[in-house]
Amino acid sequence: MNDKYIKQGKEVIMNTYNSFPIVLEKGEGCYVWDVEGEKYLDFVSGIAVNCLGYNDKDYIKNLTDQARKIQHCSNLYWNLPAIELGKKLVENSCFDKVFFCNSGTESVEAALKLSRKYGMKKHGDHCYEIITMKNSFHGRTFGSITATGQHKYQHGLGPLLPGVKYVAYNDFDELKNTVSDSTCAIVIEPIQGEGGICPADKEFLKKVRMLCDELDIVLVFDEVQSGIGRVGKLFAYQLYDIEPDVICLAKGLGGGFPIGAMMAVEEKANAFEPGDHAATFGGNPLACTAGITVFNKLLGAGLLEHVDKQGEYLKLKLEGLCEKFESIKEVRGHGLMQGIELEVSTKEIVQKCLEKGLLVVGAGKNVIRFVPPLIIEYKEIDEAINILDEVLMEG
Ligand SMILES: Cc1ncc(COP(=O)(O)O)c(C=O)c1O
Repeated sequence: MNDKYIKQGKEVIMNTYNSFPIVLEKGEGCYVWDVEGEKYLDFVSGIAVNCLGYNDKDYIKNLTDQARKIQHCSNLYWNLPAIELGKKLVENSCFDKVFFCNSGTESVEAALKLSRKYGMKKHGDHCYEIITMKNSFHGRTFGSITATGQHKYQHGLGPLLPGVKYVAYNDFDELKNTVSDSTCAIVIEPIQGEGGICPADKEFLKKVRMLCDELDIVLVFDEVQSGIGRVGKLFAYQLYDIEPDVICLAKGLGGGFPIGAMMAVEEKANAFEPGDHAATFGGNPLACTAGITVFNKLLGAGLLEHVDKQGEYLKLKLEGLCEKFESIKEVRGHGLMQGIELEVSTKEIVQKCLEKGLLVVGAGKNVIRFVPPLIIEYKEIDEAINILDEVLMEG
C-alpha cells in the first residue's frame, strides 16, 4: 500500500524531498500510523510542529467550532481569533506588536524587511546590511535562504540578496569586526536547529545584545524551531536573560496548522506603515484559533513545566547512551529540542529506527534530532531510547 501511493505521488509531486517510503494516515497522542497500519512513535512531530501531538480533543473542537463560524477573511477587516492570539503573544513576551504570516520563511522575510526599513529610516539609505551566522538555517525563500549561512542550500540559486554577511556562530570578535554603520540587523537562532542542535553561548548573546544597543542595530532571533515551549520556556531567549528586538515564529505556533508570526518591540515595529508588508492568509481565523489553543495549553495546563521535566529526562537518557556507545560524541540541546552528534553518518541509524517503529530526523552533519510532541511521557521516552539502544548496538 505504501509503495502504491508513493508511486502515484511521485508522478505528480515535485521531486524536492527525500521522503521515507511510508505514507502517514493518522495519529493519536505521540504515535502515527501509515496506510499499512504500521505504528510509529513520533520523535519528529512534523519537525517540531505537532506540539500537542495528534488529535488533541480541544484542538479538534476549537478548530471545528471556528470552521463553522468563518474560515477566512482578508486583512481588509479585523477578526477575533487574530486579535486574541496577538494579545496572548504580546502579553507573554517582551514584544509589543505582531505580524501574522503562514510559515517560518515568511516570518524571516518580514523580519529582514522590517530591519531594513528601520535602519534606513533611522540612519539613512546606507544602513541595509544584515549579518547572520554560519551554519544557520532561516528558510527557503530568497531573503531567508540568503540569510541562511550554509552554502549547500544556496548552491545554484545566485545571485542572492545583496547586503548579507556571515560570521562564525558564538564568535563575538568576528561579529564585532564585521559590524559597521551600514549594519541594520543581526540575525541569530538562539539554538541552531537544522545546523545540528547547537545552542548559543550565553556570554556571546549578552555581548551581541550590548553591541546592538550601542549601535542601534536590530537584534533578530529566529525562534521558528526553538520557540513556543519547545525548550521548556515559551521562547528560547528566556533561557539567556536577554531580550531581542524582533522574533520569528512558526512551526509549533499552530500545532500543525500553518501559521507564522514576526513580533517586534514598539520602536522597531513602527518602522512598518500600512502598505509596507502584507500576507493574504496572515491572521487567518482558523490558523489563529490553532495558535490560541496551543498557547492556552502551554500557559494554562502546565505544559511548560512538563516539557522541562521530560526534556531533562530525555537528556539524561541520551547521556546514558553517550556513555555506553563510543559512536556518540555529544548530547546537546534544551528541553525537548535535543540532539546527539555521532562519529558516523546518521542516515542508516535514522532508517533503522524507522524500521523498528521510531521516527527521528537528522540535522547538521552527523546529528540526530529529538523533537517529540511536547506532551511526550516518560514511558514513551523509554520506548524511544530502547529502540535507539538496539539500533546502536547493531552498529
Ligand atoms: C530556525 C528556522 N527558521 C526558519 C525555518 C523555515 O521555516 P518554514 O519551513 O516554515 O518556512 C526553519 C525550518 O526548519 C527553521 O528551523
